[in-house]
Amino acid sequence: MASGKVYFIGGGPGDPELLTLKAKRLMETADMVIYADSLVHPSIVEFARPGAQVHGSKTLNLGQIMELTLQAVKEGKTVARIQSGDPSIYGAMLEQMRVLEREGVDYEIIPGVSSAFAAAARLKVELTVPEVSQTVILTRVEGRVSMPPGEELSSLASHGSTLVLFLSITRMPRIVRELRAAGYPKDTPVAVAYRVGWPDEQIIRGTLADISPKVRAAKLTLQALILVGKALDPALRQPVTSLGEGTEVATSHLYSETYTHRYRLGKGRSRAKKEPVPAASRDGD
Ligand SMILES: C[S@@+](CC[C@H](N)C(=O)[O-])C[C@H]1O[C@@H](n2cnc3c(N)ncnc32)[C@H](O)[C@@H]1O
Repeated sequence: MASGKVYFIGGGPGDPELLTLKAKRLMETADMVIYADSLVHPSIVEFARPGAQVHGSKTLNLGQIMELTLQAVKEGKTVARIQSGDPSIYGAMLEQMRVLEREGVDYEIIPGVSSAFAAAARLKVELTVPEVSQTVILTRVEGRVSMPPGEELSSLASHGSTLVLFLSITRMPRIVRELRAAGYPKDTPVAVAYRVGWPDEQIIRGTLADISPKVRAAKLTLQALILVGKALDPALRQPVTSLGEGTEVATSHLYSETYTHRYRLGKGRSRAKKEPVPAASRDGD
């Protein structure tokens, strides 16, 4: 049994200030740092302590990464394996965990800010807008990796929900074609977020009608996300005419003046009447 430990750490989208405190602390104390240098910004690994061994993983295969890792843990060392964004999303983490399981190595996963959520923040959008979209699908389109049956974009698109597409920027024309065929109107808002949180970040906004030529003109071929759906419409951010009810855009119940839930009485309601707590609030809504 190896006595060291491996931490899979979400390195976030690129901005070091988006690292969790735990990620920073573990990096500062790790004996070895292995980071995905094709996607993790170099400033992130500056937190490694002087004397720690630091390896980029982009030129290594799985066997080489695991050899470095296992050697370190056998020597009782701590290994910080830095993945981009959140490690659970296209992080190729499972194959590493299986080796650690085989070897009886202790490991832990530290979540990070996925580029999906960094992009939403950068775009100033809420991905789930009441009466517009209450579902977000994180996916990719088929490339060298095939999609499991039922997960083709045309099937997923039948829901009309907010879509976040990873690893797919080179297939923009096909994505537009498939989404149009599945019923997304041509004026559906689309945003492409390239290297969010990096100094050369780029944001391209458009619709299904014009996003392909815009992406082609920008010559983006990697490290970009495609976000699609009505929830991305900048018009949803129009200033309210009055606070509270009656605005042009649907608002969530949660902060509504008249909505009663576990922690607050809606206007005109009284606790004395022992009104039942609405079902939704029992669920924590
Ligand atoms: C191997 S996946 C890793 C995703 C990562 N685990 C996450 O949660 O963001 C790489 C893809 O994630 C997206 N991506 C990662 N970092 C990004 C960033 N800073 N800006 C935009 N897209 C990014 C791109 O679609 C890229 O092709």
